[in-house]
Amino acid sequence: EINGVQAIEILDSRGRPTLNVTVSLADGTVAEAGVPSGASTGTREAVELRDGDPSRFGGSGVSKAVGNVNGELNTALSGLSWTSLAEVDRAMCDLDGTPNKARLGANALIGTSMALARALAASAGRPMYEWLPGISEARLPVPCFNVLNGGAHAPNPLDFQEFMVCPLGATSMREAIRAGAEVYQALRKRLVAGGHATGLGDEGGFAPNLAEPEEVLELIVASINDAGYPSGTAGIGIALDPAASEFWTADGYKVNGTLLSSADMIARYAEMVTRFPIWSIEDGLGEQDPDGWKQLTATLGERIQLVGDDNFCTNPAIITAAIADGIANAALIKVNQIGTVTETVEAMRICHEAGYGQMVSHRSGETPDTFIADLAVATGCGQIKTGAPARGERIAKYNRLVQIEAARPSLSYGLAG
Ligand code: PGA
Ligand code: ZN
Repeated sequence: EINGVQAIEILDSRGRPTLNVTVSLADGTVAEAGVPSGASTGTREAVELRDGDPSRFGGSGVSKAVGNVNGELNTALSGLSWTSLAEVDRAMCDLDGTPNKARLGANALIGTSMALARALAASAGRPMYEWLPGISEARLPVPCFNVLNGGAHAPNPLDFQEFMVCPLGATSMREAIRAGAEVYQALRKRLVAGGHATGLGDEGGFAPNLAEPEEVLELIVASINDAGYPSGTAGIGIALDPAASEFWTADGYKVNGTLLSSADMIARYAEMVTRFPIWSIEDGLGEQDPDGWKQLTATLGERIQLVGDDNFCTNPAIITAAIADGIANAALIKVNQIGTVTETVEAMRICHEAGYGQMVSHRSGETPDTFIADLAVATGCGQIKTGAPARGERIAKYNRLVQIEAARPSLSYGLAG
């Protein structure tokens, strides 16, 4: 039985308002959750409710969403006995009544859903990574460290958003975290030596004044070697999230001032994959370009992982349709894109059954909440991205994974399947 649901307005890692939701159960269990928030969002994501009142936080306040938790959700959920998280998640969606959670706000719903999951796990006396629904056997995911930021996450001229280093060849979480941190420090040294700024972007990666993706890839491969690791699947692989919806225009993709067609972009990726140890590309093309996505999948889908983010939005129905269309071979999984924990796991299950990979992900705006670390372990998806191995809100998740490994040394590490 739920005793009460309460929210307050707190700040996220970009200094913008978000929600902290607290759920209390009749047995005395209390648990809370912090709600993440994206910057390069897909147009079909569940709606993040913001006040739009320019006199507070430039319009980005979330007092309406907070009011919806403390008012309607608290009234509807309190004092009743629920049989499962799924039942509560469904009830919240029904109460919202819109297809995209626009009325009560996906931020209100996901905070409540995460806090309730945590409360129910605590009440059952189980860690979240064991209590959450499993899909394949629980395992420790490969951490994909976003060491260099561009796009919507940094004010530099780089159009590609994320350059990630992924310790595919590590044999434990501990060693993977160490590898990520050592490469990050080696990259810092190279940037300093090259006269570049070492200021950070929104996800904790460096944000130097570089514009060509290939130049960044050269620097990263050199840094992997500097740190003493082999690059590639036996050591450290590279994953990209160009977030191409952001530089798509009606005339083509605009990369460092040059307009490229979908076919040009695919050819460029094919060359990059040949030249560099890239094993995964997310949002290589824009959500505006489904035909390009089909071509991209047909061209590179056998060689590397192709992850849908902006075009999938962690939405079970959208992902089901995309699978039928032969788009991508993996999905990015962000809890606030869909707005409940139950639907998030459902999206992951659909991917798993279709042989699609699943990469659990943070948002560029984060709190120290570590829910996604447990989610990645519980579902056994084998991959997580949660920023650089730096900045409190990013390392909170990585440190949680190290703690889980210490508590459960029998868990295997690495990509699923
Ligand atoms: P966002 O970026 O959280 O700003 O949407 C993350 C991503 O595009 O994967
Ligand atoms: Zn993305």
